[in-house]
Amino acid sequence: MYELKEEYLTGIEQIDREHRVLFEIADEIYQLCENEFVPDKYDHIVNLLQRLKQYAIMHFEHEEAYMESIHYKKMFTQKIQHDNFKRKLETMDLEIIDDNQDQAVEELLKFVTDWLVEHIMGTDKQIGK
Ligand SMILES: [Fe+2]
Ligand SMILES: [Fe+2]
Repeated sequence: MYELKEEYLTGIEQIDREHRVLFEIADEIYQLCENEFVPDKYDHIVNLLQRLKQYAIMHFEHEEAYMESIHYKKMFTQKIQHDNFKRKLETMDLEIIDDNQDQAVEELLKFVTDWLVEHIMGTDKQIGK
């Protein structure tokens, strides 16, 4: 359902490869969202959140290092958006998630996929241009 589409490509190989993994994690969130056979999704949600956070942090580090290496001028905007994304994931209240699991996983999916598409299309694709 969710995957890296042609139009999301930045042309920078490592960045595209990592974006692909981020979409794969987003797709796992989607699969969990749709799965009616898991009565308690809490552990899965926490696990996916953790993986997403770890991978995103690593990706942002790589992307920022790359931007620095090419003396990219709009790096500041990038960093602000990256930090906002990290903060959002870090401040998710696990207790609220446990009480409304289906809603929580749906909201997480929407947040992640909207952010990824918007950030890649609007910001990452400009890197180096
Ligand atoms: Fe990126
Ligand atoms: Fe970025």
